[in-house]
Amino acid sequence: MHSHEYPTVGALAQAAAEKTVAALSEALQQNHIAFWMLAGGSTPMAAYAVLARKYVDALDWSKVTVLIGDERCVPPGHPDSNWAQASGMLDTLGIPDENRLEPPIGRGPEAAAEAYQQALAQLPALDVVWLGVGPDGHTLSLFPGRDVPAGRLVAAVYDSPKPPPQRITLTFEALKKARHCFILAAGSGKAGVVARALSGDTRLPVARAAVTVRDAGGAVHWLLEKHPS
Ligand code: 6PG
Repeated sequence: MHSHEYPTVGALAQAAAEKTVAALSEALQQNHIAFWMLAGGSTPMAAYAVLARKYVDALDWSKVTVLIGDERCVPPGHPDSNWAQASGMLDTLGIPDENRLEPPIGRGPEAAAEAYQQALAQLPALDVVWLGVGPDGHTLSLFPGRDVPAGRLVAAVYDSPKPPPQRITLTFEALKKARHCFILAAGSGKAGVVARALSGDTRLPVARAAVTVRDAGGAVHWLLEKHPS
């Protein structure tokens, strides 16, 4: 695993954008298609802005398929929607509608999770995976001490400690598809869990996610804000 520290969220966002473009370009050279999984939460927003501002011409975005690691069960376009917050960037980059794997959240947690799982199962790999991390060490919508349904690639969540309570989330099993996993850790209150995760404390979902990717042959890059404001 690689961990990189950045002095500001802006520097972390620039690095996330650069590394993502490099990994997607490599996938496009090899396979002529690429798959990119976005992260929820607010940290990715700065990196979305960098990509939209500086990398529109960096690669053929029309050959990139985009999905998201977890989504809140809120109406489309709702300010709490992880997908809605990425849509402007997807428009600017020119990701075609047919390559936008938006979770069908309107079907409700169970049906949306099942539909998303069927879509995910068709994908050969996840060339780039972004993950966020919460102050309790959660990632995706996988929280400490909570069971994850066995044998699922995507699960419904009804009692997320982080509001809103209802979500769908990829599981650790799904992360075995990841080729390059970038864990974006910015914002206050996370330094302790990041240190525990880097020491291998897999009671923390973000640590278990990183180990799962690594043990399946993927590369894990921790992008850390050095002195969170
Ligand atoms: C969500 C996310 C969640 C998020 C972390 C970090 O739906 O909230 O999937 O796992 O990535 O909580 O959130 P911030 O980036 O806002 O700190």
